[in-house]
Amino acid sequence: MPGNIKVTVCPDAQGVARKAAGVFAALLRSKPAAVIGLATGSTPEQTYAELARLHREEKLSLAKVSSFNLDEYWGLDGDHDQSYRHFMNTHLFNHVDIRPWNTCVLNGKAANPALECQAFETKILAAGGVDLWLLGIGGNGHIAFNEPGSPVDSRTRLVSLTPSTIAANSDGRFFKDPAEVPRCALSAGIGTIREARQLVLLATGPKKAAAIAAAAEGSFSPDCPASLLQDHPDCTFIVDREAAAGLKHPH
Ligand code: GLP
Repeated sequence: MPGNIKVTVCPDAQGVARKAAGVFAALLRSKPAAVIGLATGSTPEQTYAELARLHREEKLSLAKVSSFNLDEYWGLDGDHDQSYRHFMNTHLFNHVDIRPWNTCVLNGKAANPALECQAFETKILAAGGVDLWLLGIGGNGHIAFNEPGSPVDSRTRLVSLTPSTIAANSDGRFFKDPAEVPRCALSAGIGTIREARQLVLLATGPKKAAAIAAAAEGSFSPDCPASLLQDHPDCTFIVDREAAAGLKHPH
């Protein structure tokens, strides 16, 4: 049974980026010290470019914002060019006025992964919780690195990546060869993500159509981790026409 998820369909990926950046801009203008959650992957790149433009041209400020990122590859340090810390610096943080010390990306080289994950959760709580968390979605329905089977109440932890996720991240956009992709990652749990007050999930292109349909209209099940957002009180999927192609119901 379809849940509460609102789906906004935009004509194309640029429309998705503008809409998503607009949601962030509205939050930051009403709450300049907002706590935001961020995602990596190809999908949010245009949204980050649009946020950088809003900062440059329309004085959108992130100077008081704190941010938390969903995940990080286990074994990569932040200087590695495929680390999510590097991705965030390159695509967003270096282009806006967010203070580096207010950006939190899990440390993929932490001496003790369990302590690193616990500290991440504690830091979110100390910040007052996440106001708005941006998400992408894997072709298999994963959110962050919560692969199918991840429990609804999972917390930040060390996880294994599935072969399909390893393949999806080594198709030339990121890693060149599957052998280079770390087999594990630190990932915010589904329970962690569900505690954010607002969720915005982005998807573009035909490879995401089945996952979007399963997440928005399929059963509430760990088989499709994104479907576990169906009972969230404020969750919106912002998708392009191609990613919306599998939806049966108007939203
Ligand atoms: C990775 C990330 C996810 C992201 C997914 C989809 O697995 N851990 O957070 O949503 O990729 O990425 P893309 O937007 O590149 O398709």
